[in-house]
Amino acid sequence: MGTFQVLDHPLIQHKLTIIRNRDTGTKVFREVVNEISTLMAYEVSRDMPLEDVEVTTPIVKTVKKQLAGKKVAIVPILRAGLGMVDGFLNLIPAAKVGHIGMYRDEETLQPVEYFVKMPADIDQRQIFVVDPMLATGGSAIMAIDALKQRGANNFKFMCLVAAPEGVKALQEAHPDVDIYTAALDDSLNEDGYIVPGLGDAGDRLFGTK
Ligand code: PRP
Ligand code: URA
Repeated sequence: MGTFQVLDHPLIQHKLTIIRNRDTGTKVFREVVNEISTLMAYEVSRDMPLEDVEVTTPIVKTVKKQLAGKKVAIVPILRAGLGMVDGFLNLIPAAKVGHIGMYRDEETLQPVEYFVKMPADIDQRQIFVVDPMLATGGSAIMAIDALKQRGANNFKFMCLVAAPEGVKALQEAHPDVDIYTAALDDSLNEDGYIVPGLGDAGDRLFGTK
């Protein structure tokens, strides 16, 4: 079974409260999502493999560590996942970016896929799927299904706010996937929104509705 972790660093908790506030406007919402994503990227990259490398300091030659060069891809689920990409790339700038477009049908809450564009070697990459909201879990499950169909096999899923229902569904559908969230909220309401949540992440990021 993959791991499940709530990344509750004080800075992340503080910033998450800012974006939960309904009075936070698009500009600040976008900036703070970006900042939280950088903080989360730091946490989720803790187990990246290292290798020995020889380095000559001004004093002596020595052997120290460098990243082992495992190829990374970040895959945002459109639209809202786009808000997490730049923050992640702040720390892992060489990552390739795959896009998967998906929206929830407002009646059925079922995800509908409308776009997939992945790096050609996606099957060889460590993949970070990002989406601010894990609600029913349908979008994350379908996104990872689509990636597995393309041969991908090494996943971490990162979100800002998760509902218990979504975590359970994602763990059941994809037990191999590590899940990281900034907060585990209480529940889903009858419209499929996370409670207390932060509202519609895509609309808040892009100023739509
Ligand atoms: C939101 C969110 C997730 C999905 C989560 O996307 O960004 O992708 O809902 O819900 P689920 O876990 O129940 O599938 P939305 O459908 O609002 O599309 P958008 O990002 O284009 O606004
Ligand atoms: N998608 C969102 O953007 N917000 C929710 O609360 C649930 C799904």
